Amino acid sequence: MNKRLNSISELISRSTLNHESSIVVFTGAGMSAESGISTFRDQNGLWENHRVEDVASIEAWDRNRALVLDFYNQRRRQLLQVKPNKGHEALVNIEKGFPNLQVITQNVDDLHERAGQTNVLHLHGQLRTSRSTGPGQEVYHINGSELSMGDTCSNGFQLRPNIVWFGEMVPAFEEALSIVSQCDLLIVVGTSLAVYPAASLLNYVSAQTDILLIDPNEPSFRGSKHIYHFPAKASHGLVELARLLMS
Ligand code: APR
Repeated sequence: MNKRLNSISELISRSTLNHESSIVVFTGAGMSAESGISTFRDQNGLWENHRVEDVASIEAWDRNRALVLDFYNQRRRQLLQVKPNKGHEALVNIEKGFPNLQVITQNVDDLHERAGQTNVLHLHGQLRTSRSTGPGQEVYHINGSELSMGDTCSNGFQLRPNIVWFGEMVPAFEEALSIVSQCDLLIVVGTSLAVYPAASLLNYVSAQTDILLIDPNEPSFRGSKHIYHFPAKASHGLVELARLLMS
C-alpha cells in the first residue's frame, strides 16, 4: 500500500537532501494538463477519441501515413497555442537550488524546455521534431506545425513524427534507468504509470530512495516500501514542493 500524505512537508521535513543531491522528476501527461493539453487515459482523454492502433503504431504508419501525420499535426498545432503552467515553473525554481535536477518525461511536448528547464530527457520522443524513415534516422526540427507527405530528409526519405510509438523500442530508456538508479529522491508527476517500460523506472530506484507521487488519482503502481502519494494537481503539488525544498 502506498502511503498517502496530507502534506508534502511530512516527507520533506525528514529528508536529508542537500544542494548536491540528485533529484529526478518523472513526468506524464498530467504535468501538462493544466496548460490545456489532454491526457491519454482520463475521461475524454486522447485515447478515448482515437484508437491507438490507428495513429500511434508502426502498423498505422504503414497503413495510412496521411492519417498519422494529420493526428500529430493537430497535436502540434495545439502545442503551439499553449504555454507552460505553474508546475513547470516550480520545477525550474527547484532546479535553481538543486542544479543536478533531472526531468525524465513521457511527454512529447516541449513545455519543460519552454519553462526554462535545463536537463530534460524525453522517453517517448518529441512533437516538434521529425525523424527520417531512412537508415540514418536523422532528426530535424519542424518549423511550424505541419509535417506532410513529401517532406523528406536530405537523402530523400519521408520524414515521420519523432515519436516512440506503441511496440517500438524506447531508445532513451537505458539512460533514464541509469539516472533513476542513482537518484536521492524521485518525484513522479501526472502519470497513470500504465505504460511500460517507462513505468518500470520506479523499480530501479535504490532501496533507501523515497518516491513521491503527485497526482489527483493514485497511480496503480506498487512495489517499493517508500512510495508516498500526495493527491493534488501538478501545479499545487510542485509549488508546495518548491516552497519546502527552497526554504
Ligand atoms: N496534475 C497532475 N496529474 C494529473 C492532472 C493534473 N492537473 N490531471 C490529470 N492527471 C493525472 C491523471 O490522474 C493520470 O494519472 O495524469 C495521469 C495521466 O495518465 P495518462 O493519461 O495515462 O498519461 P501518461 O501516464 O503520461 O501516459 C503514458 O501513454 O499513450 C501514451 O505515449 C503516451 O507518454 C504517454 C504514455
